[in-house]
Amino acid sequence: MNKQSRAPIFETLLAHAKRKVVSFHTPGHKNGKGIDPKLKQFTGKAAYFLDVTVFPEVDSLHDPVGPIKKAQTLIAEAYGVEHSFLLINGSTIGNQAMLMSACSPGDSIIVSRNAHKSILSGIILAGVWPIWIQPKVDQNLDILFDPSPEQIETALIQFPEAKAVFVTSPTYNGVTADLVKISEVVHRYGKVLLVDEAHGPHLKFHEDLPISAVEAGADLCVQSTHKILSALSQGSVLHYNSQAVDLNRVKKVVSMLQTTSPNYLILASIDLARRQAVQSAERIFERVIRIAEDGRKRINQTKHFFSFTRKEIQARGYDLDVTKLTVNVTKTGFSGKEIDAILSKEYNIQVDAADLFNFIAILGIGSDKADVDRLVEALEDIETKYHGQSKNWILQIPSLSTEMVMNPREVFLSKKTKRVPISKAAGHISAQTLTPYPPGIPVLIPGERISKEICDYLLDLSEKALRVSGQETDTLRTVKVVC
Ligand SMILES: Cc1ncc(COP(=O)(O)O)c(C=O)c1O
Repeated sequence: MNKQSRAPIFETLLAHAKRKVVSFHTPGHKNGKGIDPKLKQFTGKAAYFLDVTVFPEVDSLHDPVGPIKKAQTLIAEAYGVEHSFLLINGSTIGNQAMLMSACSPGDSIIVSRNAHKSILSGIILAGVWPIWIQPKVDQNLDILFDPSPEQIETALIQFPEAKAVFVTSPTYNGVTADLVKISEVVHRYGKVLLVDEAHGPHLKFHEDLPISAVEAGADLCVQSTHKILSALSQGSVLHYNSQAVDLNRVKKVVSMLQTTSPNYLILASIDLARRQAVQSAERIFERVIRIAEDGRKRINQTKHFFSFTRKEIQARGYDLDVTKLTVNVTKTGFSGKEIDAILSKEYNIQVDAADLFNFIAILGIGSDKADVDRLVEALEDIETKYHGQSKNWILQIPSLSTEMVMNPREVFLSKKTKRVPISKAAGHISAQTLTPYPPGIPVLIPGERISKEICDYLLDLSEKALRVSGQETDTLRTVKVVC
């Protein structure tokens, strides 16, 4: 039998469940007997037999020697890497682990400001200095692009001390960077390439999708198996394929960040997601790509909605995972968030994210044509029923390639902080993170010198009474700075 047709964790759990073993181990529900009856009525009882804890038969995530080790080896083989780690707290800890493995406290790393919040928390945990690159704003598509290979090379020349480069690809919008060129540049300068590929666990399995991070040469990359493939939420994988980073260090860091009571259902679901991907992803994604492209075409035939195409993204030097539909709503006179709310309340459709300009509909291994038809028909209906007021919103961000004066970790741990009015904050060192949505990227980071431009941007948000993530107070009038 082909090795990839096995699912060692799932097979072991099933064999264990069939034995109906008397449980004197955690979890306390004891094979489901103690689960709330209403929950059990809804879910059925079988799954709780798989919710076990660490004992030799089912193996240990922290020191795998049995089925978990075999499952990790099968994942590594499937993706063509030296080692893969099962993660049960999402790509969030994968990003943190990459930073803590590749860097030592005091090292610096080149990273786009357009990074997920787990990268910022990883920077704080690892005690590294971020060197920020400004994301590119596209006011035609109303999205941000991660830095180009040229921007990365310029940063590498300007900051030769940088230890590594951290790239997000694909972005939330499904836009992938030119990772082949980026990998060539980063390695030519003797640095380490880390990639947040949370949205790309499927890329490797279909030739009409952009190249994946490890195929392009990333040293380490994280994928949210749960986002697009069939793992349960929180199920992710960290791939290691590096000459420069010590594998034992990665093992120690990953172990430090994961719970000692892993959910075996999540582990089994990653194991099975890998098997399913190897056996069927090419065929399934052939269909998912087709229905996404058909949906995009029909959306682009409406008067008020549009979804950018792969061709438009390639013309800008990037590539697109077409299974993500970013739908621009600016012509409707409503915000993306308002259309999101209408879709949810009136049409029973829930999209993944929305901002002022767009909403994002993510397709996955379980998507079908009927789902996409529902979305397109809802948009066609919305056009006829809802008429908003046209707005003059423009996607813009202040210059965020700021001067880092103190290490973010040092500021995060320091108690020497005070609050000052935003209008007087310029020149101070920020002691907090502030992330307005949109654009969903932090405009203040602990340790950076606050510029006049950032103050003006925050004042504008404060006047519009827009809520900003991390503001710590009911209204945004002051910011926390270092004393
Ligand atoms: C680009 C990106 N990176 C990382 C993450 C974190 O992934 P997870 O939810 O698997 O922890 C997300 C989550 O949305 C994301 O969009």
